[in-house]
Amino acid sequence: MSIQTIAAHSVDLDLRFKFDFSDPAVCADPFPYYRALLATGPVMVQRQIPWAVVSRYDDVVKVLRDHQGYSSVNPLLPGTEVYDAFHEIPVMTFSDEPDHARLRRVAAPSLAVRRMENMAPEFVHLVDEILDDYWQGRREVDAVAYLAQEVPIRAFGYLLGIPKSENETLRALGVGKPREDGAFTFYDPNFMQSRAEFIHKLVQMRKGESGGQDLISLAIAAHQRDEKINDLELFGMVMVLVTGGIGTTADLISGALYQMLRRPELYQEIRADHSLVAPLLEETLRYDGPIHTLFRVTTKEVEVGGLTIPGRTPVCVVNGAADRDPRKFPNPDQFDIRRDNGDHLGFGEGIHFCVGAAPARVEARVALQRVLERFPRIRIAEGWTPKYNGNAFGRGLKTLPLILE
Ligand code: HEM
Repeated sequence: MSIQTIAAHSVDLDLRFKFDFSDPAVCADPFPYYRALLATGPVMVQRQIPWAVVSRYDDVVKVLRDHQGYSSVNPLLPGTEVYDAFHEIPVMTFSDEPDHARLRRVAAPSLAVRRMENMAPEFVHLVDEILDDYWQGRREVDAVAYLAQEVPIRAFGYLLGIPKSENETLRALGVGKPREDGAFTFYDPNFMQSRAEFIHKLVQMRKGESGGQDLISLAIAAHQRDEKINDLELFGMVMVLVTGGIGTTADLISGALYQMLRRPELYQEIRADHSLVAPLLEETLRYDGPIHTLFRVTTKEVEVGGLTIPGRTPVCVVNGAADRDPRKFPNPDQFDIRRDNGDHLGFGEGIHFCVGAAPARVEARVALQRVLERFPRIRIAEGWTPKYNGNAFGRGLKTLPLILE
């Protein structure tokens, strides 16, 4: 029996047409939808206008590598508003070549792997401060609010040279603002406005100084030296790094802790060998990472996996499903930190591959290792079940209450 037949027998194929990450049911448990998508391959779905949904591993890689056929610029077709979080501010994520490469070159060196590894001792210090502030002497702690979010907030404060007194502002910018129904959103006009004001203030402040080694100062220096990026682009750079880098890293830290703690044998193993934290993070990124879908728009008629997609069609690229494709990852629903998962798509693929992968990996690794070293006996509070905050791109745990023994 082929993989396709097995998958087709075990899922309701109509689910493929109901896949929509803004649907709370999909956000709560997207995996049945992924199985249905994977069983049939790329499909057109009718939303306000027709969309293509691409889910199989090889198809997703093909789309992400073809940046000429698939644009990252959102032309604001009906129903694509939620992918316009930056409101006409040019940012690399939503730019095509040559602008994209020019913008990326400004930020990439300051986020490079070696620079981040050299900063690991500073991240250890930051994590220890968090554990002193919120974990020491307590019996129960919410690892989302008091570790997973706090680590990238403080790390970004450090990377961007932002005073500690602004940590609460960074929290609002990075993890979004609570809506009245308790969910989080980035798409609230007041929130967008306060984000814009804060970043503007920050950039202006740094422009008055010189020689700083933080990310903003380095971007300003590149900007002034070569006129590589203009004022609005500089502003967008800070905005995309803060907005893109904090919530995602938080979701990775809480997600990895959850995947580890829900499996007692795995927890024992990692407790005995902290070097296994790195593969735990990679498998979390594959199995259920922070970003599940990416957005593209076709620039011309294209073909993928046997589906012809007309030009100017929005494409939902489901990297979260591709990472569960049995053609690429045998027994994909099994969480296995020893599997060969180096090619997972949790950070994307191609020219837009996550520019912040190194800080995310180092921050998350240090956070989990310090927890294992200082709090070697923890467990998830009884009666808790996972609930997720979702947005257009992905999802992350709302809370993770831990008992510290
Ligand atoms: C675990 C944490 C993270 C995950 C899972 C993640 C995931 C991703 C993914 C999947 C993409 C590809 C987007 C696309 O192709 O459309 C991406 C791009 C990007 N990420 Fe991350 N990210 C994380 C952390 C960060 C951090 C810490 C930063 C900032 C320092 C950051 C900044 C960006 C930026 C600016 C882009 C656009 C890159 C480009 O267009 O060339 N991310 N990320």
